[in-house]
Amino acid sequence: MNLLQGKTAIVTGAARGIGEAVALKFAEHGANVAFTYVSDGSKEKAEALVKKIEAMGVKAKAYQSNAADYVACENFVNDVLSAFGQIDICVNNAGISKDNLLLRMTPEQWNEVIQVNLNSVFNMTKHVIKPMMKAKQGSIINMSSVIGEMGNAGQSSYAASKAGVIGFTKSVAKELGSRNIRCNAVAPGFVETDMTSYLKEGDSADKYKSLIPLGRFASAEDIANVCLFLGSDLGNYITGQTISACGGMNI
Ligand code: NAI
Repeated sequence: MNLLQGKTAIVTGAARGIGEAVALKFAEHGANVAFTYVSDGSKEKAEALVKKIEAMGVKAKAYQSNAADYVACENFVNDVLSAFGQIDICVNNAGISKDNLLLRMTPEQWNEVIQVNLNSVFNMTKHVIKPMMKAKQGSIINMSSVIGEMGNAGQSSYAASKAGVIGFTKSVAKELGSRNIRCNAVAPGFVETDMTSYLKEGDSADKYKSLIPLGRFASAEDIANVCLFLGSDLGNYITGQTISACGGMNI
């Protein structure tokens, strides 16, 4: 089934993890995909992903661009519009965590997490809404987290950034619903990626799994499937929502 035939999607931070799974899932469903990576070290992975996507018969392009940089986001959006002609779906996926107890957290650590996880969502959304308004349609998907809903000791900056994403998402949905632009958030629980590699084995993994009714961490594809639903016409009447994909951890 080609749920995204003829659409162009952009995904931030897609050289690995959830972003990569989203890019692949979207391509599998017929979308052209433009994505960003940030560090020189990710270049090879990004190029390999472009090849993999192109092999599915759609267009793909990787851009080295920092989602936390307002002007870089503006340039990225303009470059994609020149190369692809349209942007139908924007997945604001780039994110980091710098966990520390509040007592020990420095202002620099706090600011870095807010800058990458929250300001990036503003930066990208600000620039994609103009072409989406012109096209009279669009779907924006922001990556939040179960931690933004529940909080977590040692993750105050991460939780604040991800809760901020939820409030931002609702506001954008209210501002742009009349323009047929939908804006939703996805709140994954623990997902098996590099970000959670410290949890993969041993006591801490077992402790967290015991808090999850489904009894396992998510795969990146589990999260990509939610993005597919929200990005496609199947999600046409959904806006301003946060879809929890956390195996029931938040109930
Ligand atoms: P990851 O660490 O594997 O991937 C994050 C990607 O974002 C990397 O490719 C990284 O290079 C990129 N990135 C970081 N800063 C960037 C910037 N300034 N500009 C552009 N790209 C940048 O992490 P994962 O797990 O794939 O996370 C993706 C998103 O999902 C993040 O927003 C994360 O907070 C969120 N999330 C992850 C969960 C998990 O358990 N792994 C749970 C809930 C949410």
